[in-house]
Amino acid sequence: MFFAPPNGAHVHDESTHPTIHDLFNNLSMNNYVKVAALTEVPPGSSKLVEVNRVRVALFNLDGAIYAIEDVCTHDGGPLVEGDIVNGCQVQCPRHGARFDIRTGAALSFPAFEPTNVYAVQVRDGDIWIESPQ
Ligand code: FES
Repeated sequence: MFFAPPNGAHVHDESTHPTIHDLFNNLSMNNYVKVAALTEVPPGSSKLVEVNRVRVALFNLDGAIYAIEDVCTHDGGPLVEGDIVNGCQVQCPRHGARFDIRTGAALSFPAFEPTNVYAVQVRDGDIWIESPQ
């Protein structure tokens, strides 16, 4: 099987050939977007980013990064501004609904629908998230 370099360019110098490992890494990152440096989201904090006009809240729970849509499904409250409670939940600052940061699940009234969750990868000190669209 032949693998072309991701940019389609012909590469003649053996030293610049991407390895199979490089190619699979690039393929697996195709739908990801770099959104922040890991240092911008220290443990216990959150950060708002925007990708394809979608507001995404990043959370750092004890060193693990999670990304959820920054929209409370009750009435659009900004979840990134909510308090982190019970270790893995965010409480909407408007009316107090809680969401599981890891899964997006709505855990309490007045929200009933989950918020969107995006896959996260941390590479070389940068946070990448699955593109919302
Ligand atoms: S907008 Fe979030 S609980 Fe109402």
